[in-house]
Amino acid sequence: MSFKVMKAVFTALTLVSYVTAAVSESGKTLVVDGINYYAAPEVVSIIDASADMLARASTTGVDLIPLTVIADSSSSFTTTVFRAMVDNYTASDDVFNKGFLQAVYLKHTGSAPANVQYPLGAALTQYGTKLFMPARAYQSSVTAQGYTITGWRTEIPAGPYFMSARTGNVYQAYRLYQDSNGAFMQSLKPNTDGSYSVLSAAVPGDDTLSIGVPSRLYYTKTAAKPLAGVRIGIKDIYDIAGVKTSNGNRAYYDLYPARTATAPAVQRLIDAGAVVVGKQKTSQFANGESPTADWVDYHCPFNARGDGYQDPSSSSSGPGASAGAYDWVDINLGSDTGGSIRGPSGANGCFGNRPSHGLVTLDGVMPLSPDLDTAGFLTRDPILWHTAAKAMYGTNITSNFTSLPRKILTSGFPTTANSEAASILLDFLSKLQTFLKANSTTPIVPANLWAANPPAEASGVSLSGLLNLAYPAMISQQQYSLLTLPFYADYAAANNGKRPFVNPSPLIRWAYGQNNLPADASVQAVQNATIFRNWWSSNVIKTSPDTCSDSILLYVSSSGSPSYRNRYNSAPGIPTGISIGRLSGFAEEPDMVFPIGQASYNSTISGQEEFLPVAVSVVAAKGCDGMVFTLAERLVAAGILKVPKTGSVAF
Ligand SMILES: *[C@@H]1O[C@H](CO)[C@@H](O)[C@H](O)[C@H]1NC(C)=O
Ligand SMILES: *[C@@H]1O[C@H](CO)[C@@H](O)[C@H](O)[C@H]1NC(C)=O
Ligand SMILES: *[C@@H]1O[C@H](CO)[C@@H](O)[C@H](O)[C@H]1NC(C)=O
Ligand SMILES: *[C@@H]1O[C@H](CO)[C@@H](O)[C@H](O)[C@H]1NC(C)=O
Ligand SMILES: *[C@@H]1O[C@H](CO)[C@@H](O)[C@H](O)[C@H]1NC(C)=O
Ligand SMILES: *[C@@H]1O[C@H](CO)[C@@H](O)[C@H](O)[C@H]1NC(C)=O
Repeated sequence: MSFKVMKAVFTALTLVSYVTAAVSESGKTLVVDGINYYAAPEVVSIIDASADMLARASTTGVDLIPLTVIADSSSSFTTTVFRAMVDNYTASDDVFNKGFLQAVYLKHTGSAPANVQYPLGAALTQYGTKLFMPARAYQSSVTAQGYTITGWRTEIPAGPYFMSARTGNVYQAYRLYQDSNGAFMQSLKPNTDGSYSVLSAAVPGDDTLSIGVPSRLYYTKTAAKPLAGVRIGIKDIYDIAGVKTSNGNRAYYDLYPARTATAPAVQRLIDAGAVVVGKQKTSQFANGESPTADWVDYHCPFNARGDGYQDPSSSSSGPGASAGAYDWVDINLGSDTGGSIRGPSGANGCFGNRPSHGLVTLDGVMPLSPDLDTAGFLTRDPILWHTAAKAMYGTNITSNFTSLPRKILTSGFPTTANSEAASILLDFLSKLQTFLKANSTTPIVPANLWAANPPAEASGVSLSGLLNLAYPAMISQQQYSLLTLPFYADYAAANNGKRPFVNPSPLIRWAYGQNNLPADASVQAVQNATIFRNWWSSNVIKTSPDTCSDSILLYVSSSGSPSYRNRYNSAPGIPTGISIGRLSGFAEEPDMVFPIGQASYNSTISGQEEFLPVAVSVVAAKGCDGMVFTLAERLVAAGILKVPKTGSVAF
């Protein structure tokens, strides 16, 4: 949509909102037992109870009171059952706390008539419950015991809520967490119409955004909603209806109004039940940036690993930093063109996948190079990783294999255990060989394989001669025509002909594509990449009927070496070269990061020994994503891979 059209839509929406309501509520913040919460403005149910009764639960001067809906399916609700449920809620949900037992609504979900056994008094006193409301289903058994029978207008799931002591209106409770690693752009909450709003809450005394997460008790996973209640962060290059997109640029953020449609890739996750908790920081226009000088418009997120002052890598920096730092976010959606998921996954010590190219449409997503752009996840949880992939890629993710590959290729792998990282990498390789019953492990150097057996179309050109410039040509020229030109024109039209500010890294790349390369360099680069892909898929990593991919290729994703964010780097340059991570991108293959351990270093920041993640990348034939996800799951089940924890030390 052009800027003018979006502006017209925006104006129309503004006028409509004046007609319907000049003032609206955007929720409230509350503190329950010392923890910060946000009560969403939407009324999700109304408790039918008299004013007298509601008043029993109120706290002087506060309209909203904490309420827990308990779901009971037993035939008799006893003190023991009640206590066990409270313990379950406490263990399974970080939003619930016992302060929500100030008012309790007991909902009956079973078919048989239920009894509320007397006395519950001891438990209610223990929990400080002021108002206990059995639902009408309990009528026969509890009126005699003096409990007040009540009902509600709309069935809602178990969990913590807020209830108005005046009206009985019930609102969802979000726990507020601090974005202490600066990984988020905005905190979001879903609206009832499928769009999202900025969650308007801030916790007094904190210097960060407050991110709201809904109770896990509200959601039940089903076949249709395999991601029900899964909390997801979204890199801020994906459009979400109701919310602005920044692409990591302030001028861009200010210029365009909130989007009116959600990117289909994100919508598929929402449709599967995921709850978006916020937009996360990206390096500008998803180009490579190093902290801190390259990050002029927005500050680079903080990597939680080691001393907390290491580069989180780019460009899915916010998703990666969140995966390493926050156990209240389950999974994060990033994008990878030339390493933008793989780099942050390795640096922040989480699982991350660059998928086969073309698995999901990237409509409503900022382009860098459509020939290379992909959407993938960064997460600590390998099971959820696969589930989310099935939800987002749909039937485009295939699992055509009856057994796992037995052939391993390595590129740039250590050969001797002469460092902590090298011994971790070699130990993993050895366990993988045993696990796969591998019958060959072959180190490869792609440029040498090419030199020994080049395709005729290459006319004697070396691999480097063919591909050294392909990546910068594709990203600089494709992004310039798809994004930069319309952005500059819209910005100039709205700002008396001015040009917007752009960070040094995208600026130097765009200039290179316009000034230093032939006008058709991107077209040539795509042709060159195609020659390479055809050669690679028939000579190096081939498809196989039994194992999908005839082999898997391992390379080092992260060797646990420090990369301090407080150092002065040289100015950003042009990303030429034929590293193995570039080649897997040109080959359009899945390239997935597995965290495998950590290596120590003596920190110049903390003055102590700290640990940074060691990770491998696993590459397979195009279309074999399902096989690599399965490999990760089986390696976790076999104890060869471990699920990383959040914080300074992953393992
Ligand atoms: C508590 O959770 C456990 C495990 O999920 C379950 O087996 C048990 O029935 C639950 N107890 C109650 C009272 O809900
Ligand atoms: C699957 O891939 C095809 C071809 O790339 C694409 O048109 C389709 O939208 C993809 N499916 C999803 C769920 O994005
Ligand atoms: C390795 O195992 C595969 C699958 O069982 C088999 O097809 C192949 O011939 C074996 N290769 C060698 C070198 O033993
Ligand atoms: C494409 O490959 C040719 C060699 O075949 C090389 O001269 C040219 O620079 C390459 N173009 C790009 C943009 O990579
Ligand atoms: C850290 O410093 C100590 C003391 O100088 C040294 O013994 C140790 O090997 C160093 N560790 C690393 C990983 O460099
Ligand atoms: C996997 O199976 C699908 C459907 O049968 C097929 O289209 C696809 O080419 C296969 N992919 C691979 C890598 O074998």
